[in-house]
Amino acid sequence: MSGVLSKEGMAPPSYDDGVVRAFALASVLWGVVGMLVGVIIAAQLTWPELNFGIPWLSYGRLRPLHTNAVIFAFGGCALMATAFHVVQRTCHTRLFAPKLAWFTFWGWQAVIVLAAITLPLGITSGKEYAELEWPIDILITLVWVSYAIVFFGSVGIRKVRHIYVANWFFGAFIIAVALLHLVNSAEIPVSLTKSYSAYAGVQDAMVQWWYGHNAVGFFLTAGFLGMMYYYIPKQANRPVYSYRLSIVHFWALIFTYMWAGPHHLHYTALPDWAQSVGMLFSLVLLAPSWGGMINGVMTLSGAWHKLRDDPILKFLIVALSFYGMSTFEGPMMSIKTVNALSHYTDWTIGHVHSGALGWVGLISMGALYHLIPRMWGRTAMYSTRAIELHFWIATVGIVLYIAAMWIAGVMQGLMWRAVNPDGTLVYTFVESVKATFPFYVVRLLGGLLYLSGMCLMAWNVVMTVRVGSARPQPIPSLNDVPVGAVPAGAVAA
Ligand code: HEM
Ligand code: HEM
Repeated sequence: MSGVLSKEGMAPPSYDDGVVRAFALASVLWGVVGMLVGVIIAAQLTWPELNFGIPWLSYGRLRPLHTNAVIFAFGGCALMATAFHVVQRTCHTRLFAPKLAWFTFWGWQAVIVLAAITLPLGITSGKEYAELEWPIDILITLVWVSYAIVFFGSVGIRKVRHIYVANWFFGAFIIAVALLHLVNSAEIPVSLTKSYSAYAGVQDAMVQWWYGHNAVGFFLTAGFLGMMYYYIPKQANRPVYSYRLSIVHFWALIFTYMWAGPHHLHYTALPDWAQSVGMLFSLVLLAPSWGGMINGVMTLSGAWHKLRDDPILKFLIVALSFYGMSTFEGPMMSIKTVNALSHYTDWTIGHVHSGALGWVGLISMGALYHLIPRMWGRTAMYSTRAIELHFWIATVGIVLYIAAMWIAGVMQGLMWRAVNPDGTLVYTFVESVKATFPFYVVRLLGGLLYLSGMCLMAWNVVMTVRVGSARPQPIPSLNDVPVGAVPAGAVAA
């Protein structure tokens, strides 16, 4: 280890950043791959001939490859990189069991590679966002347990009494995802590559969407809120707007999310009261979601001018705006009468991607742009202008994508429900598909822009890593708490 030597000739204790670097690079790589597959399937929906008659290139197999790659590979690696980075900085400690952290890294990459092989081969359990077959499910369990041990072990050996709020969010994400995975993946194997769910009929649907919605709530939200609570204060060099609000935000959010799943099953065989409970909790969810968004955005109070010339802050703050937008839209879509229009249409796809591209994508990119130069001993990325350009390309891409899907979705919903005075349908289904064509072209354009932004980021990261060097970073003493990361009151406690 080539650390700076202290007076006594001993290297001061430094953070375990190797695994953080590895996860950060993996996230960028999988981001490019997952978004490329997104662009391919967007093109296939526009021109179905692009399936080329090859089964493993067909839309039905590439779609789960896209969702798994962007959520679990791109998002998952970003979450693991930042959780391991944040827990060390806010607890003033090295990682607990660093070798196990490397097992988490290689195990997670193995899961991703196995997904990339099995999904195009058509090996799937058929459950959305939980498609991987049972041997991979077991591997996921092992990796997740190792991730939990390293994270909570690091919290356990912390040198400060207080547990900073970002760790609460990362911790809730880790525990909830473990629970969701174990319950929803209960299955009966019939061969190495095929299993059937342990549940049947409406119970199966209920468990699946309890899982599905909490995958949104905990994988795509809670962990990224952990990122938000560390990287926005750090990048803005301001303390969190209201630490008290962050605690209320945490408990209200994790309590409410768990009950909202049935909004995915409106007008189905699920008992009506359960659908109404789902709708009610979804409406309540607006409050903690916006509380969190406001807390993040208001962290900039008194420092708004920084937004003008700091593109990383732009990523982080605009991510929160999209978070606010999708968490307003979601509760509206959960109202049964609104859902009667939006369900099955591209409106849902627009909602998904305003959350996915706008919130998950931008907050991850902002956090990685903050983290990567520091991990390679630099104060900034290789090119700040490239970050600025990335921000604008990505934002225009998102707006094109989601606006096209909203218009297409509402149009489809209205066409499907239009009836003539004699009770017959005004439009055939195919007419609605034809009418959607121009919107699919616009979505493809938006996706291409978003993907080019990601490629630009990959180039910028490669250049930063090439000119930087991975030096160990010493753990500061308690008197040297970084401004903004941990509010003074929080560590003094
Ligand atoms: C270049 C960027 C992207 C493009 C072009 C793209 C495109 C697509 C397309 C065409 C679909 C299928 C839509 C359908 O079934 O009608 C889809 C589904 C989906 N994508 Fe993306 N995507 C992109 C990025 C992302 C990212 C970054 C995430 C998550 C972090 C994401 C999450 C999802 C999810 C969850 C679905 C399934 C939606 C549902 O079943 O309702 N996508 N995407
Ligand atoms: C207050 C927060 C939110 C609520 C109440 C909510 C509500 C909803 C509703 C009602 C649907 C449509 C269900 C259907 O008709 O099938 C939906 C779909 C979806 N939402 Fe949200 N949403 C919220 C936030 C988010 C965020 C922030 C994201 C992404 C980061 C997201 C990702 C998704 C996905 C992936 C789907 C599609 C699931 C599928 O059918 O495959 N949601 N949401």
